[in-house]
Amino acid sequence: DTPYLVDRFGRVATDLRVSLIDKCNLRCTYCMPAEGLPWMKRSEMLDTAEMIRLIELAVRELGVTNVRFTGGEPLLRQDLVDIITATSSLPGSPRTSLTTNGINLGRFAGQLAAAGLDRVNISLDTLDRETFHRLTRRDRFDDVLDGLRAAKEAGLEPVKVNAVLLRDVNDHEARDLLRYCLERDYQLRFIEQMPLDPQHGWDRAEMITADEILRMLGEEFALTPYSAERGSAPAERWLVDGGPATVGVIGSVTRPFCATCDRTRLTADGQLRSCLFSQTETNLRDPMREGADDEELARLWRETMWAKAAGHGMDEEGFAQPSRPMSSIGG
Ligand code: GTP
Ligand code: 5AD
Ligand code: SF4
Repeated sequence: DTPYLVDRFGRVATDLRVSLIDKCNLRCTYCMPAEGLPWMKRSEMLDTAEMIRLIELAVRELGVTNVRFTGGEPLLRQDLVDIITATSSLPGSPRTSLTTNGINLGRFAGQLAAAGLDRVNISLDTLDRETFHRLTRRDRFDDVLDGLRAAKEAGLEPVKVNAVLLRDVNDHEARDLLRYCLERDYQLRFIEQMPLDPQHGWDRAEMITADEILRMLGEEFALTPYSAERGSAPAERWLVDGGPATVGVIGSVTRPFCATCDRTRLTADGQLRSCLFSQTETNLRDPMREGADDEELARLWRETMWAKAAGHGMDEEGFAQPSRPMSSIGG
């Protein structure tokens, strides 16, 4: 057995994405219905010790070097600071990061940094309070801006901002968002919308594409390819007006990067996924609760990754959206 999570295509998963909770305090229209979703029961979710055990296994035995915490909204998880403390103090000191909507960062950024968190990615789709309210169904715009500031002050850098553009909602804001982020030294990335919403409302023809985003930005900014090694990063980056600032586009749909994917995923209820779009999951929770040892859990993890598909298959006949929505896969 190799100590790594390798697949049939030679990719090595060194980046673990852990969804800590499926709940969220926003209701972005492209992600959740207004009434929310049938949330996981407490007993179905991994508790603190179980979460830490699996993260530790991935880092100690399986070659994981980067751990990202996502949700839902991970700041809603009461034990977030404990989990980060435990993760960042593992042997080899894995790099840790958090993907959040930013709402509670104003309060927690300092604590998170002290716990060893390296950096944060914060979602912000609009700079208009009313559009924010309409898009997220919650009037929390100022909290997100506070969160961004707090993250920067706490040194959780680079502070990256994620923006999804929706046609006729916020697609005229691409340049404004970039200006805003340039002024504050946040690293902005635009994301192509993927078919992962529970309402199945995704429509490829309506999606704002990477090409469109670059064309809109090009009306105001000079973009030149950023030559630094992209590695397995989803974002393609451009220098803005000669740099050093950059803007990124995550073109999952029209410019897939699956061939260099380095990710493995764990959900809040202890299921492993080899891909965002996997049709199958591996249950680690139940074997763990029934007494499986680390060796057995590591074997299940390696087998899961070995079976990883070449790509998301969105362009193939018979593509089906996974039954688990984005908010419980963890993005
Ligand atoms: P860094 O570049 O390391 O900061 O992280 P990231 O951009 O991968 O993470 P983040 O959680 O901020 O995700 C931004 C967007 O990229 C989200 O819409 C994710 O769903 C998407 N994304 C992240 N990982 C993958 C992936 O493996 N495949 C695809 N297709 N999209 C991904
Ligand atoms: N496609 C692409 N990005 C999405 N996000 C949420 N749902 C989708 C989707 N269907 C974004 C959020 C957040 C990031 C983690 O993923 O807006 O910025
Ligand atoms: Fe990796 Fe799957 Fe994302 Fe492609 S869609 S980059 S294989 S997680």
